[in-house]
Amino acid sequence: MQIVLVGPMGVGKSTVGRLLAERLDCAYRDTDDDIVAEQGRTIADIFVDEGEPAFRAVEKQAVQRALAEHDGVLALGGGSILDEDTRELLAGYRVVYLSMDVEEAVQRTGLNAARPLLAVNPRRQWRELMEARRHLYTEVADAVVATDGRTPEEVTQAVLDAL
Ligand code: S3P
Repeated sequence: MQIVLVGPMGVGKSTVGRLLAERLDCAYRDTDDDIVAEQGRTIADIFVDEGEPAFRAVEKQAVQRALAEHDGVLALGGGSILDEDTRELLAGYRVVYLSMDVEEAVQRTGLNAARPLLAVNPRRQWRELMEARRHLYTEVADAVVATDGRTPEEVTQAVLDAL
């Protein structure tokens, strides 16, 4: 494994992850995609059908598997760092936290029904999410790269510079 990307949904983990993989000439993988492929339904459907705790259990397994198997750039779902075992496991990897402030987050994600955690009041929900998670992303990260006002290419370069 070369790099693990963590950070909130919509921060650009998949876009930057793909660009990074190109620059480093390695493969890109995303645990959300793994879950969708394995479960045969969308993340939103898993949340609706089974609830968040069931999704987190599936996600934990997917993260463990991807960390063990993948050699390249790996993006983790935004909430995967809520799990303490996952955070401990990440200590053995090179982890980059892609950050953004709340206003940037609201602008980027808007009212996106595909993101179940933002369905009611995006600005308030974003504020709460960031307050609950910011320190967890920081805890697992070897480097923090702010994405506010930057293009995916600029963020990719900043990640490479930070490593
Ligand atoms: C979530 C982030 C999403 C997805 C799910 C929950 C979260 O992944 O796993 O909607 O709790 O932050 P992305 O960060 O890839 O959007």
